[in-house]
Amino acid sequence: MSELPNYAQDVVAYVKARVPLLYLVSWEEERILRAVEQAAIELRQRCYVWRVTEGLRNVALPGEAPDKRAREPAAVLTRIRREEASALYVLLDFHAHLEQPLLRRQLRDLAQDLVTSNKTVLILAPRLVLPVELEKQVRVIDVQLPTHGELDAHLDQIRRKAPGRVRLDGAEREELVRSAQGMTLMELEQTLALAMVKDGTIGPGALPLVLREKEQIVRKSTALECVHWEAGFEQVGGLDLLKEFLERRKDAFSEEARRFGLPAPRGLCLIGVQGCGKSLSAKSVARFYRLPLLRFDVGRVFAGIVGRSEENVRNALALAESIAPCVLWIDELEKSLSGSASSSVSDAGTTARVISTITTWLQERTEQGVYVVATANDISRLPPELLRKGRFDEIFYVDLPALSEREDILAIHLRKRAREPERFDLGAVATAARGFSGAELEEVVLAALYEAFAARRELETVDLLKAVGQTVPLSTTMAETVRGLRSWATNRARRASSVASEVT
Ligand SMILES: Nc1ncnc2c1ncn2[C@@H]1O[C@H](COP(=O)(O)OP(=O)(O)OP(=O)(O)O)[C@@H](O)[C@H]1O
Ligand SMILES: [Mg+2]
Repeated sequence: MSELPNYAQDVVAYVKARVPLLYLVSWEEERILRAVEQAAIELRQRCYVWRVTEGLRNVALPGEAPDKRAREPAAVLTRIRREEASALYVLLDFHAHLEQPLLRRQLRDLAQDLVTSNKTVLILAPRLVLPVELEKQVRVIDVQLPTHGELDAHLDQIRRKAPGRVRLDGAEREELVRSAQGMTLMELEQTLALAMVKDGTIGPGALPLVLREKEQIVRKSTALECVHWEAGFEQVGGLDLLKEFLERRKDAFSEEARRFGLPAPRGLCLIGVQGCGKSLSAKSVARFYRLPLLRFDVGRVFAGIVGRSEENVRNALALAESIAPCVLWIDELEKSLSGSASSSVSDAGTTARVISTITTWLQERTEQGVYVVATANDISRLPPELLRKGRFDEIFYVDLPALSEREDILAIHLRKRAREPERFDLGAVATAARGFSGAELEEVVLAALYEAFAARRELETVDLLKAVGQTVPLSTTMAETVRGLRSWATNRARRASSVASEVT
């Protein structure tokens, strides 16, 4: 049994448990079919494969012509119902037919019958189409992307097929397989073929091609995006406790930490006032750990075809796992989740299911090395289960910057615009800028620069002071919100900075 990949083991287990309908989502028909055939052998059951183009075929008798009479989707269901012997029926691309109410009904009736038989129907399709009326009867099985071992074995196979063409030493080969995680076997094969065309062999030159292909895969995914972010925490003013927390976990990803008995770090949640550096810090974490940064746009999983949201989420999370170690950044978590719920009338529980898919994953992920950084600024719209213990290593509250932090932030933004902070009276500017957020302080610097530029002279402290005077900070107009956030955070989150803002 251990020979079978996970999803095929699931098939075996469900068949034994008499689950009548199984649904496998994958593009890789060939690979999956091979494993399912193995599962059938293990179950000592016959295995039939149905294609709309040829009908029903017994895989144990490859020479025999398929039964054409069962070519129509309705016909194959009737046929399965009548059949006596125990068997596993694999229907390819049946999802396309589930749009028809008649077939849905037929499948549902069939499922009823199958419960008391030894027959199982397995739908294998590249995407999940699950009509509500079938939801309770169908078990969806996730097909993981090829494992390290599968990729390695595949590379071996290629080497055997074309001896002498693979020129990789042990370390190079290991690196290639590791970076190919997240690819299907087909994608790996195509990429290696490309290397062959370019270099005449599969050598170290294949590695950049694999990495490029991986970016392509991320780009094609609906909800993930590779973010290239060069700046680190030196660009973040204040938030000393957050920085200290990370500093102490600097080597948390190392082998040494694992040997010491430490679990891999899971991630952070940053909650707080608008424009105070949550997104900025999230991006800086990736730089701090020197990991690739993937932005997960939860809102986008709801786009497109209805019924695919959960699948989109699952795919995105699986892809992130395949790229691990990496930082998965979920920005404005509450907006993406609740926004979709209110905007679509026929949501039909989709949002709830997406949230539960994400929370379950946050809780149970075994795959080490996806460091999640989530940010939010409206806790009233945040599903509370997302913040329960165990989802993150720590929840931080990011408040308005205190006086010394505002000086820090002003200095950072002046330096960014090639001005020496020492030349200005930043103490005075920071004092005047009471209640300003980091984003507003950045605006102050920009506005002052414009002012000086218009007068064709160098920037001076007065320009900064004037810009401060002309700004009404959000914390004034939204004082109530800020207070609410703070009182929420008091018992639930750790403070991101040791100095408190004077604004109450
Ligand atoms: N602590 C800070 N240090 C330096 N710059 C800051 C700081 N906070 C905010 N900024 C500036 O303001 C910009 C906006 O901040 P950021 O996007 O991180 O805010 P946020 O907390 O994510 O806000 P929101 O809740 O609106 O998403 C940053 O790109 C940065 O230029
Ligand atoms: Mg933000």
